[in-house]
Amino acid sequence: MQWRIVGTGSCVPEKVLTNADLEKMVDTSDEWIVTHSGVRERRIAVTETVASMGSQAARQALQEAGIEASALAAVVCSTCTGDMICPPTACQIAAALGASCPAFDVNAACSGFLYALQVGSSFCESGPVLVVAAEKLSRVVDWTDRSSCILFGDGAAAVVLQRGETWSQICLHAQEDARDVLTIPGLNHGGVGEGLSPSYLVMKGPEVFRYATTILPEMVSRAMEGAPVSLEEVRWIVPHQANYRIISSAAKRLGIPVERFALNLERYGNTSSSSIGIMLDELNKKGCLKKGDWVVLVAFGGGLTAASALFQWA
Ligand code: UT7
Repeated sequence: MQWRIVGTGSCVPEKVLTNADLEKMVDTSDEWIVTHSGVRERRIAVTETVASMGSQAARQALQEAGIEASALAAVVCSTCTGDMICPPTACQIAAALGASCPAFDVNAACSGFLYALQVGSSFCESGPVLVVAAEKLSRVVDWTDRSSCILFGDGAAAVVLQRGETWSQICLHAQEDARDVLTIPGLNHGGVGEGLSPSYLVMKGPEVFRYATTILPEMVSRAMEGAPVSLEEVRWIVPHQANYRIISSAAKRLGIPVERFALNLERYGNTSSSSIGIMLDELNKKGCLKKGDWVVLVAFGGGLTAASALFQWA
């Protein structure tokens, strides 16, 4: 089913956690964080929940689209850090908006927004579809682990999809046997009599880095396969905002300047599956997307998963 984006929205928490703040929490420095990742600050949810951030982003997207929540054919939410496992975050968002339609979550870690786009687009025949990504990484980050806590932040994004006429393509991927590279145990009750155990994100950073620098250019190339345009004609590449070094290495491999990639990771860090949508909304609000512009989205993350999409701004 071909689709187009008719509205975008985003929401990040108010609290800013700077690299200087992190220097007081773990043995690190602003200089190390900036040179190794490009991140300068991130947002941390205090009163905000995954569902409240997702709902706010969704309201903006619906408003831009000029669509009432009651007209939605489906709400699909990507999250790996939801406030609750049940009800799904998508159901909480649908309830907050007053939408009465199928609503469910998708989890493909940081690639989840594109997985949710793929699933969401299959409902477009029945009406407009709300695709949300909402994450609160701060709840699973081990704030004593300097090799991971410096990267992540919280936030949400949303898009409204409608049936489209123009060419589009989404490519999804999961690497075999990479289950222990990035883990978040989740349900933290061991079993009968075992009590609770902490459920932190554990990551083999250099392994994710190696995977990302290879898969990111590969997924961009896959998105371009069979396309009616060349990569040179694409206006923006919007990558998962994980690490500036990963993105500049991908740009080199693709033989294109890194300036072709839209980046805001300096301000928000890695917000997992929300990061692409937050960047897309920023481009849209700044008027950097014109009707007819071709856009590539590309993600990678825990799983290990990866995904890409090519579509025309409508
Ligand atoms: O959505 C996907 C999520 N994951 C990612 O995108 C992660 C991808 N990986 C990365 O971004 C990078 O691997 C990191 C930024 C996590 C780490 O950078 P790196 O250049 O791969 O560093 P490293 O893990 O190889 O560590 C190099 C050194 C080590 O010290 P020694 O053993 O050489 O003495 C670390 O202990 O840097 C040390 N180090 C730090 N030093 C200061 C690790 N973290 C820090 C820190 N501050 N925050």
